[in-house]
Amino acid sequence: MTETLTSPLIIKSQDHTENPTIAFAKDVLKGLNSTPKRLSSVYFYDERGSQIFEEICELEEYYLTRKETEILQKSAAEIISKLPYKTHLVELGSGSSTKTRILLEAAMERFGETQYSPIDVSAEILTNTVNDLVKRYPELQLEAVAGRYEFGMEYILKHSTTSNCIMWLGSSIGNLTRVEAAQFLREVRKNIGDDDSLLLGIDLRKGPEILEPAYDDASGVTADFNLNLLDRINTELGGNFERRHFHHKAVYNVEEGRIEMYLISDLDQEIEIQNLGTSISFKKDEMILTEYSYKYSHAEIKALAEAAGFFLEQQWLDDEGFFSLNCFKPQNNAPELRAL
Ligand code: AVJ
Repeated sequence: MTETLTSPLIIKSQDHTENPTIAFAKDVLKGLNSTPKRLSSVYFYDERGSQIFEEICELEEYYLTRKETEILQKSAAEIISKLPYKTHLVELGSGSSTKTRILLEAAMERFGETQYSPIDVSAEILTNTVNDLVKRYPELQLEAVAGRYEFGMEYILKHSTTSNCIMWLGSSIGNLTRVEAAQFLREVRKNIGDDDSLLLGIDLRKGPEILEPAYDDASGVTADFNLNLLDRINTELGGNFERRHFHHKAVYNVEEGRIEMYLISDLDQEIEIQNLGTSISFKKDEMILTEYSYKYSHAEIKALAEAAGFFLEQQWLDDEGFFSLNCFKPQNNAPELRAL
């Protein structure tokens, strides 16, 4: 089921699921033939897209990374002090683990040797991260998993001998609908013990005057991130999209509490995608939905916890109350998990 990569610290899941290009092709075909058209935000993160995302995190308008870092800097020691001694830290979608280092340092301060298991779909990013962490922190006991979250968590938790804290930072949960988010956490709940906990970074509801620029920055980095999807279709599937015939749009849907990102066609046009053996017509102003980024109120965070069989044990905010870090603990004797 598993295979050891070049670095002995990385376990790679043998996902016998489909070849990624075929999965991408199928999703693009289905999404562009739907009404309204859509493409999944999971496809943003090819090498170029991941690079652009790192740039987004440094933008003035994109407050999320800055605010979460502020919370971690202020509260890492307190967060770690709430966990059982020597808790094993497990991180979903760790990427470069930049923000996590603040927590790791606080954990090493309190526990000495600290177990850390980053899980990421990208084996390349994980290898770089692991190599860097090993050099920097001799007290870290690392075991990383390259693969899907579900697989990685199951593997790590099965081999874990202490309590665990599963960290999912950066408001990545925002890409799931509220129902999908509760379902995902409910699955996590099934895999963990009573002493385990979740640490979730969740972006909060706020006005469109702050949210919309965060997803449509003045320097056009987010537009580039969004349009990169069209480049991917061109290079990987033989498409003939022209970037200059589409533009980026981000709107905050107040009722739903979510940012919606679109690519909008500037003219009536016909796009050929050779490897799909098809062409797709666009009307002028027709939109492709590419991302939802859900925002939560305090009540919605509590409801999310409860719907998934947890309770909100503690919450930390930045000074302006833009972003939240949340500690969810398993709800004991929750016989039936509640619906949202
Ligand atoms: C990685 C899902 C947290 O929704 O804020 C950033 C992705 N999209 N700018 C977010 C994203 C446009 C980001 N997440």
